[in-house]
Amino acid sequence: GKPIRVALLGCGTVGTEVVRLLIDQAADLTARVGAPVELAGIAVRKPNKHREVPAELLTTDAEALVTTDDVDVVVEVIGGIEPARALLLSALRAGKSVVTANKALLAEHSAELFEAADGSGADLYFEAAVAGAIPLLRPLRESLAGDRITRVMGIVNGTTNFILSGMDSTGASYAETLEEATRLGYAEADPTADVDGFDAASKAAILASLAFHSRVTAADVHREGIASVSAADIAAAKALGRTVKLLAICERVTHDDGEGISVRVHPAMIPTSHPLASVHGAFNAVFVEADAAGEMMFYGQGAGGAPTASAVLGDLVAVARNRTHRGRGPRESAYAGLPVRPMGQT
Ligand code: NDP
Ligand code: HSE
Repeated sequence: GKPIRVALLGCGTVGTEVVRLLIDQAADLTARVGAPVELAGIAVRKPNKHREVPAELLTTDAEALVTTDDVDVVVEVIGGIEPARALLLSALRAGKSVVTANKALLAEHSAELFEAADGSGADLYFEAAVAGAIPLLRPLRESLAGDRITRVMGIVNGTTNFILSGMDSTGASYAETLEEATRLGYAEADPTADVDGFDAASKAAILASLAFHSRVTAADVHREGIASVSAADIAAAKALGRTVKLLAICERVTHDDGEGISVRVHPAMIPTSHPLASVHGAFNAVFVEADAAGEMMFYGQGAGGAPTASAVLGDLVAVARNRTHRGRGPRESAYAGLPVRPMGQT
């Protein structure tokens, strides 16, 4: 089929891994999509520092890149509100499908972005925006769309979990563990977004919107971060057989005047026997409860370049398949990869 042309906006922790996967897996992606998935350009601020990607693809003119006829899909991994918002609105209005990992933007402006997508018939996918590599949004949006979700609860920020579990297990200091989380590419460009709970609040707003089919923005989320959690608090919790975790909780609540939604992010002391207590480092875990399905747990790497790029690539394949065969599932050619070996043969 005709190549799917991709504009990549941003080439930092996540963008670099997106480029690597697109190049390393080019042949497999072509088979799975039914057409080559090619990079048309990469927008950055400082092209000179990007020696790891083909120089001819780099540009500082993101606006021109997202609207050129040569581009079918825009992948945004810049972060923050502007210029990401304006760029994605231009792309969607021009009929380009969008894949983004930008939870801060979605938690404030998803209504505007969906309206633009609906207006032009473009797709808007954002699996990487919540819980990194873990497939969570598509299950909420699609697999569980016929059920009634009552609660979504868990650890959705890798940086704060890395800090809390580091302080708990090795007694490392808050400052040391935050520095390490930044070095490993887990923290946001401004890490106060992580430690003050803004990042988890954005993710909670996205989860609540999908789970309860409601419009929930970051401003609707009660938010407390981990800045006030001291080493003494963690030690006191430990002495009580508990561990401190930053939780995001989205649930249906019933008041005198009827049913509503409560969405909050705050540190909580949980028993060490609870499965969430064993979630360490930058891993995330989310429990979902639904009337018919009962309880489910989603677990995996919640931050970092490669895990996040995995989710971005998954969305990119979905968007590309929608273009090549309107999402009618993988074609026979997608199964033409590895041969099955009889037992005992290596
Ligand atoms: P980085 O800060 O590592 O990278 C940001 C990139 O965007 C850089 O390449 C930068 O260019 C580029 N950029 C910044 N401003 C502009 C601009 N005005 N025009 C063009 N390019 C620009 O961020 P991450 O890769 O860590 O994160 C990207 C997004 O993914 C964010 O929305 C983040 O919240 C989200 N995310 C991140 C995860 C992670 O673990 N890191 C996990 C899940 C989501 P230059 O390099 O030239 O400065
Ligand atoms: N800063 C975020 C975190 C990145 O630590 O969870 C993943 O969304």
